[in-house]
Amino acid sequence: MSFNVAIDGPAGAGKSTIAKLVAKEMGYIYVDTGAMYRAIALYLLRREVSADDESAIASLINDISVEIKYQEGAQQVWLNGENVTTKIRQEAVGNMASATSVYSCVRSKLLSLQQDLAAKTDVIMDGRDIGTCVLPNAQVKIYLTASVKTRAQRRYNELQEKHVTCDINDIMKDIEERDYRDMHREISPLKQAEDAILVDSSNMTIEEVVNCIVSHCKERM
Ligand code: DC
Repeated sequence: MSFNVAIDGPAGAGKSTIAKLVAKEMGYIYVDTGAMYRAIALYLLRREVSADDESAIASLINDISVEIKYQEGAQQVWLNGENVTTKIRQEAVGNMASATSVYSCVRSKLLSLQQDLAAKTDVIMDGRDIGTCVLPNAQVKIYLTASVKTRAQRRYNELQEKHVTCDINDIMKDIEERDYRDMHREISPLKQAEDAILVDSSNMTIEEVVNCIVSHCKERM
């Protein structure tokens, strides 16, 4: 049986940074499920489909193929035969992913892909509903969060490093809106699984968070 670690939490909590480091230390494959929702969102943006138009999205869903491959240990996301790993990182794609991940046709399309990956290999999978819906039997479940202020400041610093002009108040507003949407949707909302360990990284270093999760994994092995 494969060993599964689920990490859920709001946008900007540092899930992917942490999960990649834990994966490296423990020899797991890192699966970023947000990237799958982003690939579908990119397809819909290119087709100029409105995020509100559920029936148009449902009618297009079977035209979309999302594949996950690994290159030197790094996850690559393929959309209809095109590697879109970099293109899906834009802010607009993330917002579209949040808006369109509310639909059951979108979620059910990705569920089996995610469960198949975890059944075959030891994975650390991050997202919003991994501990609650995708991998309810995961050996370790983490709910990783941080205050809105901390998450906005981290995002601001990242954008500053890339010389992107931005306003911290706009970032905070964006984070609050995304949190609300992800936590209040009808299907598989973001919430802490009953058996998940809460880790608030607001006042923790990356190393401290990684060590905390690694020790929980070792305990359950
Ligand atoms: O983790 P991320 O920011 O790349 O995710 C983008 C959006 O995708 C997120 O706002 C909500 C959605 N998502 C989801 O609904 N379920 C997941 N397991 C992962 C992401």
